[in-house]
Amino acid sequence: MQPNMTTILAIESSCDDTSAAILRDDRVLSNVIASQKVHEQYGGVVPELASRAHQQNIIPVVDGAIRQAGISKEEIDAIAFTRGPGLLGSLMVGVNFAKSFALALGKPIIEVNHLQAHVLSHFIDRGEPKPQFPFICLLVSGGHTQILLLKDHFDIKCLGTTIDDAAGEAIDKAAKIMDLGYPGGPVIDRLAKDGNPDAFHFATPHIPGYDYSFSGIKTSFLYFLRDRLKEDPEFIEHHKADLCASIQKTIVGFLLKKVERAAIDNHVRQVAIAGGVSANSLLRSELQRICDRHHWKAFIPPFQFCTDNAAMVGIAAYFKYLRNDFADLSLAPYTRS
Ligand code: KG4
Ligand code: ZN
Repeated sequence: MQPNMTTILAIESSCDDTSAAILRDDRVLSNVIASQKVHEQYGGVVPELASRAHQQNIIPVVDGAIRQAGISKEEIDAIAFTRGPGLLGSLMVGVNFAKSFALALGKPIIEVNHLQAHVLSHFIDRGEPKPQFPFICLLVSGGHTQILLLKDHFDIKCLGTTIDDAAGEAIDKAAKIMDLGYPGGPVIDRLAKDGNPDAFHFATPHIPGYDYSFSGIKTSFLYFLRDRLKEDPEFIEHHKADLCASIQKTIVGFLLKKVERAAIDNHVRQVAIAGGVSANSLLRSELQRICDRHHWKAFIPPFQFCTDNAAMVGIAAYFKYLRNDFADLSLAPYTRS
């Protein structure tokens, strides 16, 4: 190892993925993720089951990350973890594990905000150009939908946010209505590839500024299907691909329209996406198309860094490490942003 390099163990446990990563400076040496299958049968995350599964997963996942990185635990310079927002019971597992491990190793701890981690995942070294400040990032996940203006790694201004449901939540609910399982986002994405995005039209609400609202789209999808099912009980079966393509087009179009406006208004020529929904193939291709049209640069994360993972926590922690921004062992998790 080169002298003066920093080795960070990062832990993510805010929702239903237990993850641990080792970073050396801004490079990822390992990124182990244990996804919890137990929630599928309930159609959504059951918090009590999530924290129990985190407890079972945390030691093997951390052990796996250290082994895969090929380091010894004595080489770790700091231990980072997601402090919030997220589910309290889930966060507690990661926070308490990180504190105990740090105490045992005599190393400092670094607390990380989950949303900042999603956005800062663009600074993981992959041998490709990274965003230059200022840039706009659309953060879209199962819990959040925000348009952010980044002037620095930690100077992040929220230009707009959802006033009700998150985009991922709306996609997952549409999937649930069609009985496609949980989480439905990846299933809708896959089925939409064989559908006609203009087959059905769902209205988007007029919300001022850069804010979003997704509860109306979800309700109009529900009522539309309820009416059609009266005429044809097999309507969903007969039109599944078209329904997926149409609702996906509606949500992606609504998301990107405001992102495009925000970039124009703020004279920004670089636009990124982050969070679980940034894995969506239409969102990725449409962002690229809009950026090409304006001669802007699009930053689209690789799939492994879209959904929850500890590597993104590690990169956020690395920038905090460089600022000597360590946390106190007495800190507690927070559930809301
Ligand atoms: O960031 P994430 O893993 O967890 C939260 O912090 O919420 O995001 C999960 C969300 C879920 O709503 C899931 O359905 C959605 O990301 N998602 C997708 C795709 N892959 C994951 N939505 C649309 N298309 C996808 N390919
Ligand atoms: Zn997330």
